[in-house]
Amino acid sequence: MAVEVTDGAGSREDGPQTGGADRVRTTGDASAPVRLRPAVRADAAALAEISRATSTPSWNARMFGAELDRDDRRYVVAVVHGGGGEVRGGDADRADGAVGGADRGGGEVVGYGGLALLAGDGHVLGLAVAPDRQAHGIGRQLLLALLAAAGDASMAGVTLEVRPSNGVARHLYRSCGFEEAGRRPHYYPDGEDALLLWWHHPTVAATDRERA
Ligand SMILES: CC(C)(COP(=O)(O)OP(=O)(O)OC[C@H]1O[C@@H](n2cnc3c(N)ncnc32)[C@H](O)[C@@H]1OP(=O)(O)O)[C@@H](O)C(=O)NCCC(=O)NCCS
Repeated sequence: MAVEVTDGAGSREDGPQTGGADRVRTTGDASAPVRLRPAVRADAAALAEISRATSTPSWNARMFGAELDRDDRRYVVAVVHGGGGEVRGGDADRADGAVGGADRGGGEVVGYGGLALLAGDGHVLGLAVAPDRQAHGIGRQLLLALLAAAGDASMAGVTLEVRPSNGVARHLYRSCGFEEAGRRPHYYPDGEDALLLWWHHPTVAATDRERA
């Protein structure tokens, strides 16, 4: 996936985890329970830390703060409060991983996902999990929460870009229903192409098709 940065550098965020991972160490044990909640502005610094640890180039706290101020964005964070071992959506009644409104802040941020609401479609701006929390199901829960948020906003589909070399992310997206829809040559600053992936909302898209 890629994120256009707005500080004039023209850089994009993406890719498998890279240098900087040593700068983020989450506290507590890796089996502590993880919950999802909407991101708040106070999370901007934590998002920047995780971005720096997982993506080159990355977004800083100012960029995330600006993102979190926008009405056409949906950011969700995975937070650890301590104890237990399961990953849960913010709203325990939502099996689709949607983010509930009860948990409005707090906890240690260990992952985030960001979605832009465009003209009828969503675009995944970022998805990342702190290196020492990866491979525990958090990325999948965050992605499902973004897809649920897209559906709640009546988005018919969701797009994203991913590096062909990012096997873990590609596996995750494929397993959540994303399909390859194109390739953007030399998309990333290092010259790697991007794969363009699409996910079609099962009911919103069907409704649109019926109207057409
Ligand atoms: C991609 C990323 C968000 C996935 O989050 P995660 O919490 O590690 O992933 P999950 O634990 O939810 O696992 C998702 C799937 O990937 C697999 N997976 C996770 N880590 C893996 C690894 N290191 N090697 C092989 N498979 C792995 C899991 O087995 C799971 O598949 P399964 O359910 O079929 O078994 C995370 O690895 C990350 O932050 N990477 C760096 C940033 C990045 O690349 N973001 C995406 C940019 S497009």
